[in-house]
Amino acid sequence: MGKLYDLYEQHVFPHALELAMRPMWNLRASALELAHGDVLEIGFGTGLNLSHYPDGVERLSTVDPMDALPRTVQERIDAAAFPVEIHHLPADGVLPFDRDRFDSVTITWTLCTIPDPVSALREANRVLKPGGELMFIEHGRSDDPNVAAWQDRFNPIQKFWACGCNVNRKMDQIIESGGFKIQKLDRFCVEGLPRLFGETYRGYATHR
Ligand SMILES: C[S@@+](CC[C@H](N)C(=O)[O-])C[C@H]1O[C@@H](n2cnc3c(N)ncnc32)[C@H](O)[C@@H]1O
Repeated sequence: MGKLYDLYEQHVFPHALELAMRPMWNLRASALELAHGDVLEIGFGTGLNLSHYPDGVERLSTVDPMDALPRTVQERIDAAAFPVEIHHLPADGVLPFDRDRFDSVTITWTLCTIPDPVSALREANRVLKPGGELMFIEHGRSDDPNVAAWQDRFNPIQKFWACGCNVNRKMDQIIESGGFKIQKLDRFCVEGLPRLFGETYRGYATHR
């Protein structure tokens, strides 16, 4: 999109993202509580989930094309209670992991941004062990048609400033289209956020 936008994406947006994600801090542990064993995190960002994983996590592999705030990320990795292996790759391509490798897959506030979220979920499905859980927390399309219409109007602006993030994706449909069956779904608006951004889908899914 041009050099100026590239500079914004690499040097400004990661800081804006850390600020924008603050209201979500207290929701992370609840979204990750079933994670255990060998875990894959899709859309690692700046590692904000690391201190929220439960005790049963033995190792974490991550995929995210972004390599932002590397020093901050390394400090968070050094403080983690388990080894972390980072892959700077898009999740909507072929992942470098064997079928049925992971006990758990986690994804937080990332299905909004992945260009092809259904392909990413199909890959997650391939590498998740039978019986394993995909844990998710995402913002997305409101069930209220008036709010959803505003989300549609606002989406081009959101995509621009937030580097590809969409506010109007219907996350439960996307997750089911990726080959998962949703076992639990909480729907609420994050306290203090406008419904445009705060409409939340939290839960877990298993293989269909
Ligand atoms: C709103 S941030 C959320 C980061 C992190 N999951 C969190 O909870 O703080 C969205 C993330 O999606 C990542 N992303 C964008 N395209 C992606 C893709 N194709 N595959 C995987 N991650 C992607 C971005 O780089 C960014 O880190």
